[in-house]
Amino acid sequence: MQVLNTQAFVGKTVLITGGAGGIGAQTALSLANLGANIVLSDIDDNAAAIIIDALNKTGAKTLYVHTDVSDVDQVNHLFTRAIEEFGRIDVVLNNAGVEYTPTPTHLTADDVFMKNIDINLKGVWYCVKAALNIMLTQKGGQIINVASVAGLRSAPMISGYSATKHAVVGLTKSVAVEYARANIRVNAICPSFIDTPMVQRTLANMDERGQKSIIGASPMKRLGNPQEIANAIVWLASDESSFMNGHCLTLDGGMLA
Ligand SMILES: NC(=O)c1ccc[n+]([C@@H]2O[C@H](COP(=O)([O-])OP(=O)(O)OC[C@H]3O[C@@H](n4cnc5c(N)ncnc54)[C@H](O)[C@@H]3O)[C@@H](O)[C@H]2O)c1
Repeated sequence: MQVLNTQAFVGKTVLITGGAGGIGAQTALSLANLGANIVLSDIDDNAAAIIIDALNKTGAKTLYVHTDVSDVDQVNHLFTRAIEEFGRIDVVLNNAGVEYTPTPTHLTADDVFMKNIDINLKGVWYCVKAALNIMLTQKGGQIINVASVAGLRSAPMISGYSATKHAVVGLTKSVAVEYARANIRVNAICPSFIDTPMVQRTLANMDERGQKSIIGASPMKRLGNPQEIANAIVWLASDESSFMNGHCLTLDGGMLA
């Protein structure tokens, strides 16, 4: 079923962090197919080149900027380049994130936790600030943060990751309320286990019992696929969701029900 007009994003510019793989890449492709200009950023230039090639084949206008979201100077450069190229940024998808191998908390190295803080939390913070400055000037826009069900409930063995995602949920809600009157909407999505390179890395580090527990965590007894998440992000990014603000949209096959 086609819910959105195929021209829904014509003339709109969407900036995506961590867009070279998984959820970010799938969302970029979906938005490009609906006419969006795509500003893609990532640290993996080779993977990004493949996605940019696929985006260009849709006829979308694209820009790639190598950006480590944990580096504020690189983030600010990304947003500057996007404005130079397209003049405005309608939607920012803060998607870049990292996981770590599930480990008991008392044995988890501090630098592993700090890396999660740097990318999953500081990275979103830097991008939210850069986006707000631009969106205030252009008098509107939308920010979508990729959190996780691990930002809404316990996530044993990845407590550091869970802490960063809870923080992203708090940031999302607070900023949404603060800037609602400036015509800036801020929402988050909270997926459960989705079949991306991130989850494949996690599964590869588990025994069969662990793998079954991940795949069986949803009542639907399967992983989500990136397109299912992209579909929700596309709707959130569109004008069809115009009264949704400060919301954390769970996509988990019923896991939290
Ligand atoms: N896959 C899941 O099950 C799942 C579930 C809930 C939430 N999430 C979240 O969704 C987002 C995307 O996850 P995914 O599964 O597509 O992961 P992925 O690992 O498949 O893709 C993440 C992308 O982020 C990039 N990246 C990593 N560090 C970066 C940095 N410092 N700066 C910029 N880019 C960087 C990677 O190169 C990669 O292209 C993440 O925030 C993740 O925490 C994923």
